[in-house]
Amino acid sequence: MSALFQPFKLKDVTLRNRIAVPPMCQYMATDGVANDWHKVHYPAIARGGAGLVIVEATAVAPEGRITPACLGLWNDAQAEVLAPIAASIKAAGAVPGIQIGHAGRKASANRPWEGDDHIAEGDPRGWATISPSATAFGANLPKVPKAMTLDDIARVRADFVAAARRARDAGFEWLELHFAHGYLGQSFFSVHANQRDDAYGGSLENRSRFLLETLAAVREVWPEHLPLTARFGVIEYDGRDEETLAESIALARNFKRGGLDLLSVSVGFSTLQAKVPWAPAFLAPVAARVRAEAGLPVASAWGIDDPQIADGTVAKGQLDLVMIGRAHLANPHWPMQAARTLGVERPTWVLPAPYAHWLERYGTR
Ligand SMILES: Cc1cc2nc3c(=O)[nH]c(=O)nc-3n(C[C@H](O)[C@H](O)[C@H](O)COP(=O)(O)O)c2cc1C
Repeated sequence: MSALFQPFKLKDVTLRNRIAVPPMCQYMATDGVANDWHKVHYPAIARGGAGLVIVEATAVAPEGRITPACLGLWNDAQAEVLAPIAASIKAAGAVPGIQIGHAGRKASANRPWEGDDHIAEGDPRGWATISPSATAFGANLPKVPKAMTLDDIARVRADFVAAARRARDAGFEWLELHFAHGYLGQSFFSVHANQRDDAYGGSLENRSRFLLETLAAVREVWPEHLPLTARFGVIEYDGRDEETLAESIALARNFKRGGLDLLSVSVGFSTLQAKVPWAPAFLAPVAARVRAEAGLPVASAWGIDDPQIADGTVAKGQLDLVMIGRAHLANPHWPMQAARTLGVERPTWVLPAPYAHWLERYGTR
């Protein structure tokens, strides 16, 4: 039996295999509300066989959206439409997860296929952004954010809690806090984005504070028996990587102490100076180090869609979960195909009985 197709249990949730669909923004919502596209997209991907499907970055507040077309969970109307989507992912055999986040200084942008840049000043579609410090990301995202006051910090933390509660009530069984990719959580941690001189900036302890306080607040409302996870960029590839990684591992240990169940290991994307060494599964050894040194289960993504490589990351003990993103957009049945490639004898495990019965009888090739 391939390692990739072993079930994975975390808290009271069991995934049918180690394949996860990472959050992938669709940029198709209106006022943060999901629509027919999301109702088709999510169950279609879940039906392909992954163990876990995580709904895209969903903003905890209107100003936390990356674009005007991002999903939100800051009101009950948004949750009402997400509930049947969670149910449909579950009906297709996958565990329904959701990523909640705040885009910080990278918010108020155009969709990737409409420029991928900040919405122009004065355009009524845009809005004022917030971040730990009044420092812009730069290049295509030049907007200078407002430095958050302590009241802003308390408000956003409360927004995370309210969104987590709505996600729970909507039937999601796996929560991912988006602390990665240069958005708000990552910006608090990053020396590139955080120049504060109060309790939320400076030392590692201070730069960790927003993330740990938000985790603690969410932990109080998210059920103990369900996985509470985070996505975090442990490395920037900015030339000070050993230092960043050591700090990230210290943070991961504190996440674990704070009740986090799994860390999705990613890249920081906090600086334009980064030189990311793109290659198949380039991040897996980094994730393995976090796993070993922090003692937390890990997931990771980025170019792991060769089935042998994906299987190897689990077999070697580098990753607990393998995130397969873009390959799922190209082929929602990626898990079924991977099973065949890896010679898994009865790949019909991914399917509910009405399909599995006939495929068993007539074969799958
Ligand atoms: C269309 C698209 C949207 C994405 N949206 C998100 C997101 O909402 N949250 C997130 O953490 N990462 C997001 N990502 C990054 C993916 O989760 C994943 O890390 C990335 O695609 C690399 O994995 P892959 O090589 O298997 O595609 C997105 C990627 C794509 C292609």
